[in-house]
Amino acid sequence: MTTDRDETDRTPAVCDRIRVDLGERSYEVLVHEGLLDQVGEFLAPFKLGPETIVVTNPVIKRHYGARVVRSLKAVGLKPTVLALPDGERTKSLRWVAWVLNELLRRRYERKAWLVALGGGVIGDLAGFAASIYLRGIPFAQVPTTLVAQVDASIGGKTGVNHRLGKNLIGTFYQPKLVLIDPGVLRTLPQREYRAGLAEVIKYGVIADAELFEFLERDMDQILKLEPAALHRVIRTSCAIKAAVVSEDEREGDRRRILNFGHTVGHALETLGGYRRYTHGEAVAIGMVVAARLAERLGLADASVGTRIRALVARTRLPADLPPRSASALLRAMRQDKKVQDRRIHFVLPDRIGHVVVRPVEEPEIRQVLTARQPGT
Ligand code: NAD
Ligand code: GLY
Repeated sequence: MTTDRDETDRTPAVCDRIRVDLGERSYEVLVHEGLLDQVGEFLAPFKLGPETIVVTNPVIKRHYGARVVRSLKAVGLKPTVLALPDGERTKSLRWVAWVLNELLRRRYERKAWLVALGGGVIGDLAGFAASIYLRGIPFAQVPTTLVAQVDASIGGKTGVNHRLGKNLIGTFYQPKLVLIDPGVLRTLPQREYRAGLAEVIKYGVIADAELFEFLERDMDQILKLEPAALHRVIRTSCAIKAAVVSEDEREGDRRRILNFGHTVGHALETLGGYRRYTHGEAVAIGMVVAARLAERLGLADASVGTRIRALVARTRLPADLPPRSASALLRAMRQDKKVQDRRIHFVLPDRIGHVVVRPVEEPEIRQVLTARQPGT
């Protein structure tokens, strides 16, 4: 996190600034209540063309479109708002083609900005469109869900789903800037907010035992969006994500830890047709399964899984697999991007704050998927 300021710096004094360090592709993640009204001010210094496409959906447009458009116009930018249908099923090649078509039709050039205003669906799709339009135009992330603020907007993973699996088509393409306004979370449905907390629990397990303990202690405050607790949650999560991505942008090694809970999570999302579970809910179940697997493989003692399960339940996230789902889940997992040499890889916690990544044999996975779950 940097605190250096010069006199041309328009960042509010109490704004948290987190740097994603990637050489000439480095960028900053800014966290501050009210940033939504300053989007234009932060884009202006890049001195790109005036054309600015704001990709969003009708729900977010209704809440926040006017504020962002006003701030862009205030610095002389010319915004056009493209609203895609709400929902995970929009994250498809079909809607990428629609966005590209709109950009081509308007003859936007390489210096046009693309601003992703929304949750992970909009951010992933818009980032992907930005990465392939004219071989890449600059884009900024203005995330409006907790999932997007603590995870999806940072790190440059962009893409869409395929019928055969989640996020199977995409690019690594970094934004120029990430602007996080925690205030927008007040209109987020509670279920979506809790989904974001699943990713925060993930950071605690993979890298930060202190964060995990803070979540155990203060979850009631966090669930009430108490500002100081919420700010700590966002700032700490962004710092962990930025550090991991700075170390390993293209998921050669270290970045794989961010997939904790995602092996089973993605399979659950795919099986549910992207409708049954939110991404965060699927990850929550996936984290509990991974912890049980770690225990079964002798990597962790039972307390690790017990604490993760308790925190997931306290956050009012689902912890249990749907009944009789083992065979279908295994089939979906074989299709996952994380399969290497046809072996399914898991991120496994050996203690709170530390994980290992390793292939796990299918019989072991099946055992855990079919075992009677505590409390059932
Ligand atoms: P989402 O984008 O579908 O948003 C959830 C819901 O909240 C939507 O209905 C949306 O309209 C609504 N919404 C968004 N902001 C709102 C606000 N401020 N007020 C009221 N309603 C609001 O879901 P998500 O959980 O943000 O993102 C999930 C997606 O993100 C998945 O596709 C997942 O794969 C992806 N993801 C990507 C990364 C990455 O590194 N690129 C990381 C995590 C997740
Ligand atoms: N959300 C996983 C990653 O960014 O690598």
